[in-house]
Amino acid sequence: MTTTKSAPTTGSDRILNFSAGPSTLPESVLRQAQQDLWNIDGSGIGILEHSHRGKVFDRVIDEAVADCRTVAGISDDYTILFLQGGASLQFGMIPLNFLTAGRTADYADTGVWAKKAMKEAQKIGSVHCAFDGSASGYDHTPDGTETTCTPDAAYFHYCTNNTIYGTQYPAPPTTDAPLIADMSSDIFSRPIDVDAHAMIYAGAQKNLGPAGCTLVIIRKDFLQTASRDTITMLDYFAHAANGSRLNTPPTFAIYVMGLVFKWILDQGGLATMRTRNAEKAALLYTAIDNSGGFYRPVSKTRCRSHMNVTFRTPNEALDEAFLQEAKTHEMSGLKGHRDVGGLRASIYNAFPRAGCAALAQLMSDFAARKG
Ligand SMILES: Cc1ncc(COP(=O)(O)O)c(C=O)c1O
Repeated sequence: MTTTKSAPTTGSDRILNFSAGPSTLPESVLRQAQQDLWNIDGSGIGILEHSHRGKVFDRVIDEAVADCRTVAGISDDYTILFLQGGASLQFGMIPLNFLTAGRTADYADTGVWAKKAMKEAQKIGSVHCAFDGSASGYDHTPDGTETTCTPDAAYFHYCTNNTIYGTQYPAPPTTDAPLIADMSSDIFSRPIDVDAHAMIYAGAQKNLGPAGCTLVIIRKDFLQTASRDTITMLDYFAHAANGSRLNTPPTFAIYVMGLVFKWILDQGGLATMRTRNAEKAALLYTAIDNSGGFYRPVSKTRCRSHMNVTFRTPNEALDEAFLQEAKTHEMSGLKGHRDVGGLRASIYNAFPRAGCAALAQLMSDFAARKG
């Protein structure tokens, strides 16, 4: 049995955090935030204490928007917003703003989060379930032949990466309707076809920063079609008109997101993220595939996630034994979601490749001993 410890940085007192979110952030971002918490930009005031209307925060939010555009190649046709209420509030805001009377919205149900989004829309208006993944235990995202679309739908909503099951769309679905994506668990993990979408949103706490902020990227002509009847805090148009500062925004979360955007750019951008993430995921999928059937993957091969790698050992007792061994290797957060069971390794952008290698090694050793 390999006993090598595998902390993310040499001499670090931190362990390998495979949590599905909130999750591992880049070390350089955390170090910068430590400094700026005390005194940012030589202002004598820490980032937590600055007014959201002052010059320092103007700089922070303006750079965050600009860097976000650069990271994903987002044109001026799109507005970038930093909102609160998590991705879950978007589930309600989207139909409130865009599911207008007489229209139907299409939803692909690829699991818990996609279904929650659909259920919120059902409270507001007419919804068509364009794909029902429940029949196959949410083990895949649909290919082109499995989806049925409503003519002239208000929009088509899908979830690019299903955190709980470890399934991921290899490419955006095809539809004539405005496409809306929940990218909470894979945003900026690979290049994005922004122009294929009317709107993209993501809770920050996996690939972008701390919980408490949701990134929303919305096409301006689509925004123009929003209903203005809703209360102000749920009105995208009002948020856009006020540059995400309709009220006091989550200043610290926006600040950290800005640092994460700079980190992505420093690393080489989304193409680098894609290559790294594919390599990291491949280490774990290889361990699964080479285990002679000891590990059973949850997701179909075609749509395996590069962010959440889900698998089971032959039984629950072995799942538990694996978790206990992982603990002795300074690995945490590997328990599968309660709806799926088994094991789940969440390996977002900032999770180190060495951590994936260490887990793959443990998986192979464990299978050899228990198989
Ligand atoms: C894909 C996806 N969408 C939405 C959510 C809900 O996010 P929040 O907790 O920010 O509302 C999650 C949370 O894990 C998620 O994984």
